[in-house]
Amino acid sequence: MKQKVLVVDDDSAILEVLEMRLAAMGFEVTATSDPRKALEATEASRFELALLDLRMEPTDGMRLMEGLHERQPRLPVLIMTAHGTIQTAVEAVRRGAFDYLTKPFVRDELRSKIARTLATRRWARDRERLLTVGQALASSGVMARVLDSVAQATVEATDADRCVVFQLEQGRLVPMASAGSPPPAWTRLEAAASAAMDKGIPIATSGAAEGADSGTIVAAPLVVQRGPAGALVIETSAHLEPGEDDLELLALFSSQAAIAIRNTHDLESLKSGAVAALGRMATQVAHEVKNPLAGLRLYVRHLEQHLTKIEDAAGKELAGKIAVTVDHLTSVVAEITAFGRPPELHRVSTALHPLLDECLELARARRPTEGVDIVTAYDPACPEGRLDARELKKAFLNLILNALEALEGAGRLTVATAYSAATGTVTVTIEDTGPGMTEETLARAFDLFFTTKPDGTGLGMSIARSVVNLHAGELTVSSRVGEGTRVQARLPLEPVPDPARAPGAGA
Ligand SMILES: Nc1ncnc2c1ncn2[C@@H]1O[C@H](COP(=O)(O)OP(=O)(O)OP(=O)(O)O)[C@@H](O)[C@H]1O
Ligand SMILES: [Mg+2]
Repeated sequence: MKQKVLVVDDDSAILEVLEMRLAAMGFEVTATSDPRKALEATEASRFELALLDLRMEPTDGMRLMEGLHERQPRLPVLIMTAHGTIQTAVEAVRRGAFDYLTKPFVRDELRSKIARTLATRRWARDRERLLTVGQALASSGVMARVLDSVAQATVEATDADRCVVFQLEQGRLVPMASAGSPPPAWTRLEAAASAAMDKGIPIATSGAAEGADSGTIVAAPLVVQRGPAGALVIETSAHLEPGEDDLELLALFSSQAAIAIRNTHDLESLKSGAVAALGRMATQVAHEVKNPLAGLRLYVRHLEQHLTKIEDAAGKELAGKIAVTVDHLTSVVAEITAFGRPPELHRVSTALHPLLDECLELARARRPTEGVDIVTAYDPACPEGRLDARELKKAFLNLILNALEALEGAGRLTVATAYSAATGTVTVTIEDTGPGMTEETLARAFDLFFTTKPDGTGLGMSIARSVVNLHAGELTVSSRVGEGTRVQARLPLEPVPDPARAPGAGA
């Protein structure tokens, strides 16, 4: 299909020439001298490019550009102007034109500026697409994040002690997200989930009936297209008889979770395919470009200073323009490499050990662990700290999953903590006796989208590192081929204000 170009000029001779040249360059041209017709045309079809004369009656090119942008916000516009009005043309660029062309046209200039405009436009569009998908992916599987929010909202709305979202994966019920305090036992929750799925409606079970302490468990099935895909389960320690309203509320939340699961399945299929490859490529390019850009910027600043000193105003202005362009490029690169940066922290009093146990539990449900010896060695002196439990759960879960994926069902996984009262920091160690990493893998493990796994996205490590860094901590890895991998997160523990709760509370 031919690309569409819109040309508006009140000089019919110029209009004719442009129409001919652009048609010869292979474009489908809409040429008019009437700005109103131009506006109508953008309503009727999408253009790839518009060439507008700066001086027209009754409206001018800039006003027309604004009108066009209201209808097609990202339409690249080239403003055409006669000699002597360059200053206005620069102003046009400042106000949103892509570039300007001086009249009379030089053949090559017309061709090259159009080519450049279209190429840049294409790149910007790809980058936008990449950014949206990237952000979704970077949230460590949108699924986990959305289900997290559902679990969180459920706990808040129902005053339950905890909420767990189970999902059916290859015939097994897998806890995908949880909120509230860690559950004392998972089996009862899982049983309730499975019962709700069988019945297809929300159910309530009282713990007393099973001889456990007198809590209540309510479970609602998550129904996705062809049947139950999992269940949303809440638990309270009090013995409550849930009413119609409660069950209805839960059904509402579970339908939210079900929507999340369905949407994410669509996205998941993108995740391992072309989009991730595209993302990898983009970040690789960005990394390659980052350092030379920083150098370039330094040189330009230097040049600017030098030209100021020798009072070369014109030269200085040029250098300034280069600097602006380099800055722009730098921000583009930063944008690309910023995928996966987690949001701001919401610190609450958090006991690390139950949090780590919960991560282990979530990971265990997702990866085979029958042949894996899981060892926990927690330092009883480790106090509670003000941490973002949700983000940290995501970080540790990713690290534990990596270890289990490396172990492939056999070996030892150790999760240990060590508290240093002197520095107020805790070091969390996650260690596996898997195959280890080669030097090259180790060097790139934290790169976004770097993965050696057929189904990997290459986000786990970078997510973990940014979460730990946001806590003013540090994440380090040591690994030896054939011996295993040790990942350590050093976290400063901001003390919890209430001193009565602090000592030994995390044990
Ligand atoms: N414990 C480990 N043992 C061996 N290699 C590891 C370990 N942890 C990470 N790696 C290596 O680092 C790479 C990047 O890990 P990362 O968690 O970022 O991505 P991934 O696990 O491949 O994919 P994702 O976590 O997004 O599903 C892995 O592909 C793997 O090669
Ligand atoms: Mg991983």
